[in-house]
Amino acid sequence: MIPTVLPTYSRAPLSFVQGEGSWLMTGDGTRYLDLGAGIAVNALGHAHPALVEALTDQAGRLWHVSNLYEIPQQQALADALVEKTFADTVFFTNSGTEACELAVKMARKYWHDKGQPGRVNIVTFSGAFHGRSSAGIAAAGSGKMIDGFAPLLPGFIHLPFATHGSVLSNAVDETVAAIMVEPIQGEGGIRPLPDACLKGLRQLCDETGALLIYDEVQCGMGRTGRLFAHEWAGAMPDIMMVAKGIGGGFPLGAVLATEDAASGMVVGSHGSTYGGNPLACAVGKRVMEIVAEEGFLDEVTRKAALMRQRLEGLVAAHPDVFEEVRGLGLMLGLKCRVANTGVVQAGYAQKLLIVPAADNVVRLLPALTISDDEIAEAVARLDAAAAALTKESDA
Ligand SMILES: Cc1ncc(COP(=O)(O)O)c(C=O)c1O
Repeated sequence: MIPTVLPTYSRAPLSFVQGEGSWLMTGDGTRYLDLGAGIAVNALGHAHPALVEALTDQAGRLWHVSNLYEIPQQQALADALVEKTFADTVFFTNSGTEACELAVKMARKYWHDKGQPGRVNIVTFSGAFHGRSSAGIAAAGSGKMIDGFAPLLPGFIHLPFATHGSVLSNAVDETVAAIMVEPIQGEGGIRPLPDACLKGLRQLCDETGALLIYDEVQCGMGRTGRLFAHEWAGAMPDIMMVAKGIGGGFPLGAVLATEDAASGMVVGSHGSTYGGNPLACAVGKRVMEIVAEEGFLDEVTRKAALMRQRLEGLVAAHPDVFEEVRGLGLMLGLKCRVANTGVVQAGYAQKLLIVPAADNVVRLLPALTISDDEIAEAVARLDAAAAALTKESDA
């Protein structure tokens, strides 16, 4: 008999009743050190007092009014995002997938309104993940995500990861509306796109007019030590998808865009019942304020260096289990020599939560507020997990 919850997830037999910072507690009080943070969502950890306050304060006043009316919390968050980024305007969604939908629509509408309705194609790269909607799976274009879901939304051109040079420039012809790329692939196995590639994409878009769309759903909102990951390369997008960390655990996403890129999105061209509602935006605004506090992102960078150094030591100590450390900031991956799912299980045995990704990688996406002691504890637990795996394979 089919479970009452549609069985699309492979869930661990773990259930948590409470969270605090980098820790999750089960009903019997067992504490797990959480290096997944809800897959890069709980950027400020669990139950951050300032976010609890922002949410409960708003919950006591007003939950929802619809976008028929002005929403001051939405306006405030949009203003803050515009002030801190390349963008001139913001549309709020409830998820990354919805941000992908709008990014695709915005790019196509841009060219339609410029009198070039044939420019509809979006160039994407292998290993990408842009969500599970019809546009999201067509954009990624691979594997289980698309099997059985034909006909796929047309208008996507798939290139190998990090394609550059003439192969890339030949693909970006007069049918291409935009290039869509994650500056660091998350689901694809924590694969950063080199700065030179991002700069090259920006240059190509400048030459051809194609819009550059960044998907910073996973790598954005402070995770790499900058507010957005592309800032390290200094190559700005025209459109950017954001979600996950922006709501600190409350469902919230956004599309940020320049005035020019957004020029086609006039009244009636897009909408969302819940997108940008007062609860989500009250929390999102508080997340932004905290991430923007002086020294916050420098602390992320310092802790990331510490964690990376410890992880390099871990890989050196367990060459039979781990191959390398990858990633940027607190978006880190361990490429495994044994099955990554086995490493995740071994982590559970040590009361440590880590997340599998493609390319046989385990992801470490801790709360940006993780402490030095918690980093040391996490690496000690990974060490014990790796030792247990080695013992198992020797037996
Ligand atoms: C890079 C990226 N884009 C889009 C999405 C889809 O976001 P959501 O699951 O919020 O719809 C994800 C989710 O993992 C993601 O990592």
